Amino acid sequence: MKNKMEKIVSLAKSRGFIYPGSEIYGGLANTYDYGPLGAELLRNIKNLWWERFVEQREEIFGIHTSILMNPKVWESSGHVESFVDPLVECKKCHKRFREDHLKDKAKCPDCGGELTEPKLFQGMFKTQIGATENRGAEIYLRPETAQGMFVNFKNVINTQRPSLPFGLAQIGKGFRNEVTLGNFIFRTLEFDMMEIEYFIGPKEGEKYFEKWKKEMWKWLIDLGIDEKKLRWREHEKDERSHYSDRTEDIEYKFPFGWGELYGLAYRSDYDLKNHSEKSGEDLRYHPEEGEPFFPHVVEPTFGANRTFLITLLDGYNEEEGRVFLKLHPKLAPYKAAIFPLLANKPELVKKAREIYEDLIKKFPVAWDERGNIGKRYFAQDEIGTPWCITVDFDTLNDKSVTIRDRDTKKQDRIAIDKIASFLENKISGK
Ligand code: GAP
Repeated sequence: MKNKMEKIVSLAKSRGFIYPGSEIYGGLANTYDYGPLGAELLRNIKNLWWERFVEQREEIFGIHTSILMNPKVWESSGHVESFVDPLVECKKCHKRFREDHLKDKAKCPDCGGELTEPKLFQGMFKTQIGATENRGAEIYLRPETAQGMFVNFKNVINTQRPSLPFGLAQIGKGFRNEVTLGNFIFRTLEFDMMEIEYFIGPKEGEKYFEKWKKEMWKWLIDLGIDEKKLRWREHEKDERSHYSDRTEDIEYKFPFGWGELYGLAYRSDYDLKNHSEKSGEDLRYHPEEGEPFFPHVVEPTFGANRTFLITLLDGYNEEEGRVFLKLHPKLAPYKAAIFPLLANKPELVKKAREIYEDLIKKFPVAWDERGNIGKRYFAQDEIGTPWCITVDFDTLNDKSVTIRDRDTKKQDRIAIDKIASFLENKISGK
């Protein structure tokens, strides 16, 4: 019997959500490529996040900064010194582990073999600019998008003139030379982050931390994620990142156990102060009245790929021999699929094509005329398409179609000219 994770991995591969990276060359461990449906689902997650936290918020500004940054950024931010993991290797099976992740630090958790002394391992990927490999041109791939927002703090203040509290938000790739990987897309070498740096007054940390806890939770509930599989967990002092005075994670109950989904950190004025000191630029906030000061920062950070993984895990349902992915309609790669009842009846195909060609201008919709109607429903259920629309012989007379719901399997008749507004209302939750 496959467990849920194995089922998801095989569904993701067979239906074009996620493929192993560089597969034709034997793959590259812990890298994945998103296929046509996966690319759509990932994009929908990011768009929905951007809509909610940037477009619909007066005080949060979107930003899009470079992955490659001056190496001094990572010295000032503390990453060169502190973004390191203690690595141990089993002398018997040669597997590597992060020592701080092990309960028993003396024995290999896989084979019980003796472990080596821990060695510090830099978590940032290094590369170099230019053809020669001289040290001066050595740079890093960013491990978090946050620093792009801190180094542009002054630019945004000068151009947007925001007053506190305000936020900067960014979606982009982060890269980490992780020691322990695995569990499909849970922990990979590169991943998409959706981060907000929320700048506040020096005494407002507690208040905004609590506010963001509520907002992060609500985002997941609105995506339809099962609340029973979510919990908050506060980091112990020695577990927190070097920049954080307080961190809490939202954890999800994955098939392999509770694991970090998102993080919320109170970064105080750590980053702005350090960048100001090391760059010589004044990164203080100058209020209309009173002395300039370094704003404090509360940072809600959301992993896009982990969001993707939980939408598949949470949405995966098996019922009476059918598999259906109960994805939120806003996330579903296709909002509807259109079929002619019989593919060998040109009058049905013609009408169904007309409907399809009209709808595809407004929504991502699928076309299917293969096999019988049952098989088509089955295929669309598996990829999470919320509605299937069938053109039959009655359509030619009554100008209506059958619309079938993915979750309830209930079928209704609906007039052709009402399909678009039906979908629009359903998708927006009206
Ligand atoms: N700027 C804050 C920061 O980087 P983090 O908790 O280290 O915080 C943010 O990372 C989020 O990115 C995590 O909550 C998780 O969702 C995701 N994430 C972190 N490492 C990851 C990895 N190796 N693969 C996939 N997602 C990862």
